[in-house]
Amino acid sequence: MGAVRRSHVAALGAVGALVLLLLARLPPPARPRPPPAPASTAAPSTTTNRTAPPPAPLVHTPPPSPKPAPAPAPAPAPLGPKPAQPGPVITNDVYVAGHEKPHPELCPALGGRLRLLMLVTSAPSHAAARDAVRLTWGHYAARADVALAFVLGVPPDKMRPAVDAEDALYGDIIIGRFMDSYSNLTLKTLSMLEWVDTYCPRVPKILKTDDDMFINVPKLLDFASAPSRVNATKTIWGKVVKKSLPKRTTRSKYYVSPLQFPGKVFPDFATGPAYLMTADAIRMLLAAAPSERYLRLEDVFVTGVLANKLGIKRQHAPEFYNKKVAAHPCAVQRGVAIHMVRYHEQFDLWRKLLDGKTKCAS
Ligand SMILES: *[C@@H]1O[C@H](CO)[C@@H](O)[C@H](O)[C@H]1NC(C)=O
Ligand SMILES: *[C@@H]1O[C@H](CO)[C@@H](O)[C@H](O)[C@H]1NC(C)=O
Ligand SMILES: *[C@@H]1O[C@H](CO)[C@@H](O)[C@H](O)[C@H]1NC(C)=O
Repeated sequence: MGAVRRSHVAALGAVGALVLLLLARLPPPARPRPPPAPASTAAPSTTTNRTAPPPAPLVHTPPPSPKPAPAPAPAPAPLGPKPAQPGPVITNDVYVAGHEKPHPELCPALGGRLRLLMLVTSAPSHAAARDAVRLTWGHYAARADVALAFVLGVPPDKMRPAVDAEDALYGDIIIGRFMDSYSNLTLKTLSMLEWVDTYCPRVPKILKTDDDMFINVPKLLDFASAPSRVNATKTIWGKVVKKSLPKRTTRSKYYVSPLQFPGKVFPDFATGPAYLMTADAIRMLLAAAPSERYLRLEDVFVTGVLANKLGIKRQHAPEFYNKKVAAHPCAVQRGVAIHMVRYHEQFDLWRKLLDGKTKCAS
């Protein structure tokens, strides 16, 4: 009996030890936690802080993963002026108002005697393209009712002497307050709008174009003064693109992140190489731009997003080819704006425009 009892005790002891062992290995069962330390007491020990998750549920579920970060901006390579920002870049944060070279004299009488102002966006290194414009269709700026200027950003230091010398010679280079770069094109257009608003507010119509465009100025003047357009307000004319989709692949030159443009489809917009706008649109666009998400596609931003918001009409005009055309004199004479013009082509198109021999149907 004694032996039996002893073995019972031993067994009980063993079971007890086993139970203790198991208990020790198990996580403590929902034991009441010490009440949270009142906020007023000294810093809580870091250990209690680390073990403060809510009581484990009976069924094991993975701990709630940290809240999915709100779609981090995909590593912004050449996106915009201020990459690596968690939120969208707001235009006001990147646009610096004012002009380093304003040339107010390019718009006499604040534009009151002008029919048309042509502003040509250009880059510091494009001196040859500017020369080709000056030597061809830029000649029309000699008229009292037409003005022309080039709009640039701040050139890199090593280009500054050349740009200054060129401007000293021609006096037609407006420089804004931003580094000239492809991703700053939107800043260039805003700088252009600001210049018109400040120095040329009475001009009735403004052509925005690029230095690789051929502009048929007489045709453009006719276009602008057609009865249906002469008194138009809140309108942009050009090559209007509808239902264009943002490029969401980072490899695209036109990549747009959902942060820059959250929508699925761009509003209708007039493509950047050339568009004509009524003066009353300028101030509206300028007023609306600062609070908008910065989009480096200047045409989508200005003639699409902003114009759409402001109820500025975008009217398609087939005369704005905004692309290369077979350089037949009639094509040149019928168009207002032709794209992709290299230095020598400006002269070729200019000859064809002035060609008095070819008879073209209207
Ligand atoms: C401890 O946790 C509290 C509440 O969760 C938190 O406010 C506090 O910053 C944490 N302290 C430390 C040192 O992590
Ligand atoms: C755009 O211009 C801003 C200044 O306005 C400058 O800080 C930035 O570097 C420019 N971006 C590029 C890509 O040059
Ligand atoms: C445009 O406005 C001017 C001045 O108000 C007016 O004389 C002219 O008849 C108008 N032209 C058209 C086509 O409406």
